[in-house]
Amino acid sequence: MLFLKDMSCGYGALTVVNNLSLHIPKGIVYALIGANGAGKSSTIMTIAGQVSLKNGSIEFEGHDISKVPLKDRIRRGIAVAPEGRRLFSDMTVEENLAMGSYTLPTNHFSENKNKVLELFPRLGERFTQQAGSLSGGEQQMLAIGRALMSRPKLLIIDELSLGLMPKVIDLCYLAIEKLKNEGVTILLVEQNTARAFEVADEVCVLESGLNVWQGKAEDAKKDPKLVDAYLGLN
Ligand SMILES: Nc1ncnc2c1ncn2[C@@H]1O[C@H](COP(=O)(O)OP(=O)(O)O)[C@@H](O)[C@H]1O
Ligand SMILES: [Mg+2]
Repeated sequence: MLFLKDMSCGYGALTVVNNLSLHIPKGIVYALIGANGAGKSSTIMTIAGQVSLKNGSIEFEGHDISKVPLKDRIRRGIAVAPEGRRLFSDMTVEENLAMGSYTLPTNHFSENKNKVLELFPRLGERFTQQAGSLSGGEQQMLAIGRALMSRPKLLIIDELSLGLMPKVIDLCYLAIEKLKNEGVTILLVEQNTARAFEVADEVCVLESGLNVWQGKAEDAKKDPKLVDAYLGLN
């Protein structure tokens, strides 16, 4: 579904990810892991069209989208729940959800909204509340819900569990499982490596902008180097 080919990206003269190649097949959960500053967010924001691609290419469903603008990538089926959620805090839950699909030619607001509220009933209870007044967990659900409003084929979630209570993390992972069963492909960025490995089919590990390991999650769990570096404390 998604191919990165020798992808390098960065900011101005600075390159932060170097020659990253990966393939995310349709229907899987793909986990991108690595320490703080490794280049995970830069990678996914390059896929989304928000960080500059410096080299290489991005192919989505057989088309080179390297030069396709952000809003057209959403139309093609790529949506992101970004790190830090970036909600419109003065706007209500409903208005934030509406922002997730307003650029689409036909946005099917009420149908898509109903699907999101089915996945996260808590958002229904908070529907007319301002996003800024929600708990961290509710905000994460809203960020994911907003991304889902465009009915993405590829859902990208950056730092799913960061700062959340264990119960809320469970709810979010349950949602991931449900979405996967519906055929949504998911690219997950996680600091909580153990948790990501529970749900992921495939894994890529970034260190200082370089791909240092790539393969099946079940093999990653058996690799002593990875266990030592990323699973040792769990
Ligand atoms: N807007 C920016 N301008 C300049 N450098 C940035 C910017 N955002 C991130 N970086 C740098 O890019 C590198 C990778 O960051 P990032 O992709 O956020 O890593 P991660 O998500 O893995 O923590 C870091 O060295 C970071 O300081
Ligand atoms: Mg990040």
